[in-house]
Amino acid sequence: MTTVAELADDPHAALAAVRPVGWLDALGGWVVSGRELAVRVMRDPETFTVDDPRFSTAQVVGPSMLSLDGTAHVAHRAPFEKAFGLAETRARFTEPVAQTVASLVEEIAADGAADLRRTLAGPLSVAVVAYSLGLPPASASTVLGWYEAISDSVTGVAAGRQVTAAGAEAFARLHAHVAGGIETSDSLVAEAAGAGLGVDEVVANAAVLMFGGIETTEGMITNCLWHLLTHRDQLELVLADPTLLANALEESLRLEPAAAVVDRYATRDVELAGCPVRRGDLVTVSLAGAGRDPEVFPDPDRYDVRRANARRHLAWASGPHICLGMHLARLEALTALRAALALPGLRLDPSSPPPRGLVFRKPAAVKVRWDVEQAPPPQV
Ligand code: HEM
Repeated sequence: MTTVAELADDPHAALAAVRPVGWLDALGGWVVSGRELAVRVMRDPETFTVDDPRFSTAQVVGPSMLSLDGTAHVAHRAPFEKAFGLAETRARFTEPVAQTVASLVEEIAADGAADLRRTLAGPLSVAVVAYSLGLPPASASTVLGWYEAISDSVTGVAAGRQVTAAGAEAFARLHAHVAGGIETSDSLVAEAAGAGLGVDEVVANAAVLMFGGIETTEGMITNCLWHLLTHRDQLELVLADPTLLANALEESLRLEPAAAVVDRYATRDVELAGCPVRRGDLVTVSLAGAGRDPEVFPDPDRYDVRRANARRHLAWASGPHICLGMHLARLEALTALRAALALPGLRLDPSSPPPRGLVFRKPAAVKVRWDVEQAPPPQV
């Protein structure tokens, strides 16, 4: 029987065995790993909802777009849609993302070795979320502190414990900051309040931007670095033709979507590809499984930066909850990857680990080396 540890390590054999859908005891629910069926489930929120008391994030931060369906979901999401659209994202974020990446890379450039998860991908994703909440990028450590405390609390609640004191305090600080920002700044949160959301609702959705934008973006960047640096032939193709980088990123999202699963709860008895799903059952959609469906992606385990249909991956989910921040995440990832690949002779340290994790999949580190030009000896 497949265990949770095996799924976290490498879920693909188990996902292939149940494709398109099957019951996994380790998860206590159905797992959908066929692409077509995954889309069907995510586009039918009346039958497969996120709005269930078992959803632990909502217990800590309150109802938000992530935990609601139907008209309530539209009311929470619509005020943020324009700000995260492609044109607005480029206009608002291109410059701060470029500056943040440049200063992070400048800090390590002379070292010749680094863990790019801790020095680039992680700090960039936190700084950008801080910026989107109306904080200067320099407040990244404050935002990371809130995120970690609230996230620990959510994990505890999911395991049946009470909200932690640290989690409650961090949420109170986030609340105070966002409520203050609504009055004074021209940030996204102020815009959302202007569009009709109450303060508590704006705060809950701001917390969801933290949950949506930190671990996932860090994972997206580290996974792509890992794929490129462990497939030197593919890296050479990208270095020879940098226009391939965007597709190399999509192909990485297909093979290892940073959020590997999304959970839904059945609102009625329903049959899924012959499986008898009962009302109340957990239905986990495996975005990782959908990305390796051989009916859509031939030779699905291969990393191929020229794959014609790589963008058909479901790393952003599908349907009403499709990722709000996808344009921003792509902008961050491409900017960070371009800067990293410009480090001369960039190579992976052989001790660098592969991606793993049940929900958020990424390597624990991306240890790399590059060539640093020696300063010429002083003239005498
Ligand atoms: C700047 C970075 C990001 C931000 C601000 C962000 C924000 C969000 C928000 C607010 C939602 C909820 C939308 C809704 O429920 O209507 C969401 C959903 C989602 N995001 Fe993102 N996100 C970011 C990056 C990413 C990345 C890098 C990934 C994965 C590669 C990702 C994967 C997802 C998925 C799978 C969902 C759907 C959740 C579900 O259906 O239950 N996000 N995102």
